[in-house]
Amino acid sequence: MNCWKVKKLQAQNFRNLKNDVFEFSNGINCIFGENGNGKTNLLEAVYLLTNKKSFRKNTSYSQMINIEGESPEVIIQSVFQNTEDIASYSIRLNDEIEERYLNNTFEKSKTPSTSVFINPFDSYSFHTSSTFRRQWFDSHLSLIDKEYKQILGRFQKAIRFRNSILAMGGQNTSMQLRAIDEQIADYTYLITTKRDEFLKDLNFHITPTFKAIFSEDHRLEMTLESVFTKWDSKKIYDFYRHQEMSDIKAQVTRVGIHRDDFIFSFNGLNAFEFCSLGQQKMAFLSLIFAYIELFRYKFTSYPIVLIDDVSGELDSQRWKNLIQYLETKQFQVLITTANENFRIELEKIPNSKKILIEHGTLINQG
Ligand SMILES: Nc1ncnc2c1ncn2[C@@H]1O[C@H](COP(=O)(O)OP(=O)(O)OP(=O)(O)O)[C@@H](O)[C@H]1O
Ligand SMILES: [Mg+2]
Repeated sequence: MNCWKVKKLQAQNFRNLKNDVFEFSNGINCIFGENGNGKTNLLEAVYLLTNKKSFRKNTSYSQMINIEGESPEVIIQSVFQNTEDIASYSIRLNDEIEERYLNNTFEKSKTPSTSVFINPFDSYSFHTSSTFRRQWFDSHLSLIDKEYKQILGRFQKAIRFRNSILAMGGQNTSMQLRAIDEQIADYTYLITTKRDEFLKDLNFHITPTFKAIFSEDHRLEMTLESVFTKWDSKKIYDFYRHQEMSDIKAQVTRVGIHRDDFIFSFNGLNAFEFCSLGQQKMAFLSLIFAYIELFRYKFTSYPIVLIDDVSGELDSQRWKNLIQYLETKQFQVLITTANENFRIELEKIPNSKKILIEHGTLINQG
């Protein structure tokens, strides 16, 4: 499989990272260092190159620029490689511009690869917050389906407009709603259909992935909780007519795909209510690695997998399971930890690259 992998990275003026040249292997790269030394910042730099945004929520470039640096902009240079080709790729960012260069030529949209980021806190948020779940699904589906991203953007715009009509009120409200609801019904139909298909594809992989990582047989399934499932645009439009009076009274759109939820079940029971924290994390990791498999089927190549200290809540046997799973895979992994015991497990991986960071400086890479 011909996946683009990041081979070198040098960040200038990016958070606390110094100008060192980090070099990565094609397989597992372990990034060590104590708390607050720059491990997550290094993952963020890779993510920024490949996904054109940060994985940190509501982060602007001004927060990324080194607070002690003299230059007002961030430059990240990198080298990507696959089995046939090599490419240089860099970005230049400041409050006004975002420029990307592929082999020294200005590039508007393409990136050499895509990354999937696995965050230690996401498991908890995923199981406890429906907003988080929805955002997770929307962003991950958008990553593999550009049309979904586009339609979702249009839907969000339309629903904002609908809500502003409702908030203003007035004599023409009903007529205005009818006009916008035709669009909303079409978008709702397309988005629900795509979410359904996505879940079907994901579900195909989740249970086997859980078994492949943790060697345990459990039935895992994600389902979409929506009134719109299997409805056509006409039925959705009629539903909004039926809702009209109560929406006008509430001055907001009370039901819509912007409030739909996803339920994660573990052997037929709600994973959040039934599972221990460790099992929730195992289920969440299986969901992400199932998504990575789906990504591979769709694009016949793997994304780069960035794993930010996932050791919490998992026992040492589960760490070993996870490491063994990563070793069997052909994707490139950058995995961080500040946990000494997990570090010992990671250090046992033969042929893995070990990178040590202290105060944003590369101390060692072997
Ligand atoms: N714009 C910035 N300029 C300079 N330093 C920054 C900037 N943004 C964040 N930092 C600092 O970067 C340091 C390293 O952050 P990072 O999140 O990478 O640590 P870490 O090694 O992942 O730690 P942990 O093990 O606790 O997760 C932090 O101390 C943080 O204050
Ligand atoms: Mg960190």
